[in-house]
Amino acid sequence: MCGIVGYIGKREAYPILIQGLHRLEYRGYDSAGVALIGSKESKLRVFKAKGKVADLEAVASDKDCTGTLGIAHTRWATHGVPSEKNAHPHISQSGQLTLVHNGIIENYATLRSQLEKRGYTFKSETDTEVLVQLIEYFYTNLENNEQHTVEDAELLVSAVRQALHLVIGAYAICVLDSRHPDQLVAARKSSPMVIGVTEGNEEFFIASDASPIAQYTKQMVYLNDEEIVKCERGHELQLFKLTGEEVGVKIKEVNLDLSMLDKGGYPHFMLKEIFDQPSVLRDCMRGRLVGSKLHDNEWIPEKVVLSAVADHKEALLRARRIIIVSCGTSWHAGLIGKQLIEHFCRIPVEVAYASEFRYSDTVIDKDDVVMAISQSGETADTLAAIEMAREKGALIFGVVNAVGSSIARHTDTGTYIHVGPEIGVASTKAFTGQVTVLTLIALALGKAKGLVEEREYEDVLAELNQIPAKIEKVLQQNNKIARLALKYTYAHNFLYLGRGYNYPVALEGALKLKEISYIHAEGYPAAEMKHGPIALVDSEMPVVFIATHHELYQKIISNMQEVISRKGRILAIVTEGDEQVKNMVDEVVEVPETMACLSPLLTVIPLQLLAYHVAVCKGLNVDQPRNLAKSVTVE
Ligand code: G6P
Repeated sequence: MCGIVGYIGKREAYPILIQGLHRLEYRGYDSAGVALIGSKESKLRVFKAKGKVADLEAVASDKDCTGTLGIAHTRWATHGVPSEKNAHPHISQSGQLTLVHNGIIENYATLRSQLEKRGYTFKSETDTEVLVQLIEYFYTNLENNEQHTVEDAELLVSAVRQALHLVIGAYAICVLDSRHPDQLVAARKSSPMVIGVTEGNEEFFIASDASPIAQYTKQMVYLNDEEIVKCERGHELQLFKLTGEEVGVKIKEVNLDLSMLDKGGYPHFMLKEIFDQPSVLRDCMRGRLVGSKLHDNEWIPEKVVLSAVADHKEALLRARRIIIVSCGTSWHAGLIGKQLIEHFCRIPVEVAYASEFRYSDTVIDKDDVVMAISQSGETADTLAAIEMAREKGALIFGVVNAVGSSIARHTDTGTYIHVGPEIGVASTKAFTGQVTVLTLIALALGKAKGLVEEREYEDVLAELNQIPAKIEKVLQQNNKIARLALKYTYAHNFLYLGRGYNYPVALEGALKLKEISYIHAEGYPAAEMKHGPIALVDSEMPVVFIATHHELYQKIISNMQEVISRKGRILAIVTEGDEQVKNMVDEVVEVPETMACLSPLLTVIPLQLLAYHVAVCKGLNVDQPRNLAKSVTVE
């Protein structure tokens, strides 16, 4: 959480920083701030505001925002309420150092009291202010050292290194020294940080992810844990370990589709991303679902080609068990992945919340495969879970969206979902991308194990290839769902019920509604309703059933009867042409016929749209719901 941007170069920093903050606002949006140093006189100016980046812009609108060096921050509060005082950047006691931080300093209370004993005073309630004072403390000590062992230009890097040695917790920081306006220093541990470099080292861009940088340069350096970087105009980037040793800089070429970073004419990112699904799922399958051409636009998929599965075939085939670790929506995708892998590969799969797994005493050995699913690739709990599993010798497989992210870099192998940047805080296209990739993995592995009959393999591949077109058909009902949503804004509680492959979809539908409309919603396996949630059902209670034509269809109808007898209001997601359910319930939304194992890719779409429209009807901020953040880099 929290987004950081830094710039040092020849252009005006302020517009770059503000645009970067807008791109990173998905990471947190309760307060924002910027620090700038003018190019002519090196006077530091800091502007902050409670609220969104737009509020910061309003505050800064009549101020002097010139300067070619600056740092900026958009916050998701951990220590201290969202306020101007607690907003970053934080300034050191003497006013010389300014710092922005993403993460949590766990031992901040101890450090703060030690600094207070040395005469430091604090203006905010944040853990971050401790960090800037601690760096200043070491900076002053180094400077006053009679032997002068550290050169002036190295003081900041050395002080940052000494301070970070004492820190327990997670950080991505960017520090500005007003006495050295030719350099910016940044560091990371367990929180992401990317540096963009231009030709001749004339400019450096620092950010929590590549999105604020991509329009300026493709040359990027992803910092590793416990690395400190010094960006100095006209000089090569210098990278140090926390131990002081200088390490080589590895520049990567990163290609981001910039059109994905704006709303493309939609009122919200979430709606755009819902509508993106047919095309991004085609991208996700491109080159992985291969086959032969029939006519111009028609082809028959013949096999799944996944390099990660081919490269690690032996280890995957002998896997005793697969443990999926993830959080939130990615965890729901994992529950579907479990069913797919168990069905096609006959390998036992467990699905764990990464936050629980990382501290658990789960028995893991080298024949286990731990599969981390993450959209952002930066979720702290998921990252920690894979580190724990790695120590125990398991093969770590990633299913990640953000290319080059921490999880992608910390796995032994993996498959990107390639659905493009997801900006709306409520995850949509990442979920269907994850389910698609999990389907491909299950099919590739099941085929390699000789467990999938040729006929079934071909049928599933052919159907998977049709899924994007079928999602397009579901999306045509957007206006109908918008009208339906109006009828449900009164509700305080919702129940979502499904079975088999659609039980995780019920969980995901409920999560979507909770996240953005603030209506309490629970997802349940439909048959489990009678063991508790049925007590909630009355004429006020909307119940969403996923009741497509599959194995347990008749059982679900019985569950519906139980709700109808208690006067509950039912909205059912049904297969096209279903008359039976239509005649029983209040409302239906139809999805095209498909196989049970692929049905979540269709049934989740109306639930995403329902949550979206309910939130819009309630006048809520769909893309930035209260209290949430898109990338949870704290535990
Ligand atoms: C946050 C987001 C969710 C997301 C979860 C896991 O809570 O708001 O949308 O599902 O983190 O994130 P990941 O990036 O690991 O998939």
